[in-house]
Amino acid sequence: MRYLTFALCKGRLAKKTLELLEKLGITCNEMKDPASRKLIFVNEELKLKFFLAKGPDVPTYVEYGAADIGVVGKDVIIEEGKKVHEVLDLGFGTCRMCVCGPSEAKALLSNHELIRVATKYPNIAKDYFYNKKHQTVEIIKLNGSIELAPIVGLAEVIVDIVETGSTLKENGLEVLEEVCPLSARMIVNPVSMRMENERVRKLITDLRKLLLEER
Ligand code: PRP
Repeated sequence: MRYLTFALCKGRLAKKTLELLEKLGITCNEMKDPASRKLIFVNEELKLKFFLAKGPDVPTYVEYGAADIGVVGKDVIIEEGKKVHEVLDLGFGTCRMCVCGPSEAKALLSNHELIRVATKYPNIAKDYFYNKKHQTVEIIKLNGSIELAPIVGLAEVIVDIVETGSTLKENGLEVLEEVCPLSARMIVNPVSMRMENERVRKLITDLRKLLLEER
């Protein structure tokens, strides 16, 4: 039996995924050591491999088949647009992709003004403004702390993830429009889906059942 390889998104999503898999008897104790700098972990008994990657890289590993399965946020899946099968909503990591800014910026959105939009997600922002709202905007790509942009005058609004809303609140910003809801998803390489159909299908079925029971 060949190894089935999982690419997990470093951090909280990986932790949540491992907790879920553990409930199905799929464990990887090696991975729990917080001091470890190891990047790849093996469960010999079940012929599984797990590795940790940066979120935006997870769909890349899965598209190329370096991982059969990936777990990553829906935001990354949409933004990266890779050829992978999205097979399951895991129900955790729920948040929203939103257009945010100071309340005064609301008028700029409804008047379809040419504004600047700062974001870590240029493809999502472009699709939303160009295809859904039919508003021409200038997209500015940033890599983090997006909330800074409207405060320091780099952009009028941002397109970013809102979870609790506290980052916005503490910086005098608010949600102006919602782009889409988000959560962690399981993705599968299309070839693995065919070649390892039985194992992958069983995993999806077991996870789906578990998620329903936990609801
Ligand atoms: C994310 C997101 C917001 C914040 C939202 O940033 O970009 O800044 O979390 O969470 P909240 O609604 O609960 O306040 P992250 O912490 O991932 O860091 P980043 O700014 O470097 O992207």
